[in-house]
Amino acid sequence: MRKLFVAGNWKMHGNKTFIKDLVTGLNAKSVSLNNVDVAVCPPAIYLDFVNKCLATDKIFLGAQNIAIEPEQGAFTGEISIAMVKDIGCSYVILGHSERRAIYGETNEQVADKTATALSANITPIVCVGETLAEREAGKLELVISTQLNTVINKVGIDAFANIVIAYEPVWAIGTGKTASSAQAQEVHAFIRSLLAQKNAEVAEKVIIQYGGSVKPNNAKELFAQPDIDGGLIGGASLNADDFIAICTAGV
Ligand code: 13P
Repeated sequence: MRKLFVAGNWKMHGNKTFIKDLVTGLNAKSVSLNNVDVAVCPPAIYLDFVNKCLATDKIFLGAQNIAIEPEQGAFTGEISIAMVKDIGCSYVILGHSERRAIYGETNEQVADKTATALSANITPIVCVGETLAEREAGKLELVISTQLNTVINKVGIDAFANIVIAYEPVWAIGTGKTASSAQAQEVHAFIRSLLAQKNAEVAEKVIIQYGGSVKPNNAKELFAQPDIDGGLIGGASLNADDFIAICTAGV
């Protein structure tokens, strides 16, 4: 039985006042978080602040990106996995579609960053997903399998025991247009079967989150699907009531 895992991707949102309020709300409601793993992923510059504001051991911390280089060096503007770990993170989101589309991150770079995160014992949340054009062109399975196979080829299938996958259809992100629970389940099952071809035991255990316009009113149905093991939440994670409602929707 897989444990639900819900993570909030705050993207580039917030300031100290907003974040203090948000985390105060999360602290107050964290007593209701049982049988679910929960993380918040603030902008890197606020990771330490969030860590200090968090007054619960039920909410873990994650970063939104890391450099490929694991330690330190002459890489202006970059943040290493060693730093992310030092500040108290347990997770890092990798290969989010915004990083792929806006910053040109390639499958190879996502795979390299996955290896970097694993080398520091930080759990990568590896994002995969197709654009609407790719889906309509019948390329959904090709796109997802290429994204995943690049990571598998780099770190090996057994490493997926320590990797979370987030399926985020690009057309559902921030659009209010959620994939139906059946559409999402279909892709989640495809992802699990792709892993199962290489290692059935690992495939059965791997957490596959769904992301894309998850809200309190649709989370329960999504999380009830057999291959959907939680969510990666954008907009709704910026509201404590909504985020906690989503975290508790599937338990
Ligand atoms: P929304 O929940 O705002 O659609 O964002 C999803 C997402 O991109 C999470 O990583």
